Amino acid sequence: MDRNLALEFVRITEAAALASAEWTGHGDEKAADKAAVDAMRKAFDSVNIDGTVVIGEGERDEAPMLYIGEKVGNKSNNAPKIDIALDPLEGTTICATGGVGSISVIAVAESGNFLHAPDTYMDKIACGPGAKGAIDIDKSATENIRRVADALKKPVGDITVVILNRPRHEKLIAEVRATGARIHLIGDGDVSAAIATGWQDSGIDLLIGTGGAPEGVISAAAMQCLGGDFQGRLNFRNDEEKARATKMGVKDLTKKYTVDELATGSVMFVATGVTDGPFLKGVKTLPGRQAKTHSVVMRSATGTIRTIEAHHRLNQKPNFK
Ligand code: FBP
Repeated sequence: MDRNLALEFVRITEAAALASAEWTGHGDEKAADKAAVDAMRKAFDSVNIDGTVVIGEGERDEAPMLYIGEKVGNKSNNAPKIDIALDPLEGTTICATGGVGSISVIAVAESGNFLHAPDTYMDKIACGPGAKGAIDIDKSATENIRRVADALKKPVGDITVVILNRPRHEKLIAEVRATGARIHLIGDGDVSAAIATGWQDSGIDLLIGTGGAPEGVISAAAMQCLGGDFQGRLNFRNDEEKARATKMGVKDLTKKYTVDELATGSVMFVATGVTDGPFLKGVKTLPGRQAKTHSVVMRSATGTIRTIEAHHRLNQKPNFK
């Protein structure tokens, strides 16, 4: 995949982040999400790709834009055929409440290299490169913490596990506390949390818990680029969700997915911070209708992690005037 495309994708996540950031703390999740979707959809038009959204805003009948199966890009002159997993605003509640860690994100792979995950839950476990190979979603949280502590050569008490703060995680939280490990509870945003496990100095070692399956695929793409590890298993609430998964081509509903089965081949991952988070700063407004964004671009082919700070003059951008 042409590495120069990376900068094109950053422009797209920057546009979505700038647009949704205008809704930070306004308490309106729908407006924040719509601003991100509209800006991202528009920005795709100027990129020379033949892209298919495989992880998107939802199925065609429920999402007007960036739905699963939608074609994006201007497809001129030998445009590369790529699959796209995206979330214009990951952490809509975070943005609406001015909380920590909402991002705009796009992951890209060659056709057929992302799992076509249904919009259900997924049980997840993630860790950074230092503990790659040590995690196993079939083992207990206690066993995984012990293995990660061994791999990182740290005492269990120095391991920090990030967990979504949900009633469904009550038992998990109690189990992790009993090991003596530290817990970082988050309200939303388990993509940022998964990435934090592989981000130097984030202070986070392990993610465990159940979150969105589409977010699981996006997280796996990021972990491929970071050299970290991720495993997931679809978690269905009812038969209707199971039927949806089957319709999307999932053959074994109980399968344990490795990071390579969720996102494989040459993967590119791009994200821009909307609000301040564990690895990206959020959009900062400056006097005179200017703003600063902070983005990350990563490629699995080389493992390069590039952060980009951009200074925008919004009154010179057609979509922000
Ligand atoms: P949205 O951006 O779609 O609101 O998702 C936020 C999020 O916290 C994800 O990061 C996470 O995977 C999922 O929601 C958890 O779902 P739920 O809120 O139903 O527990």
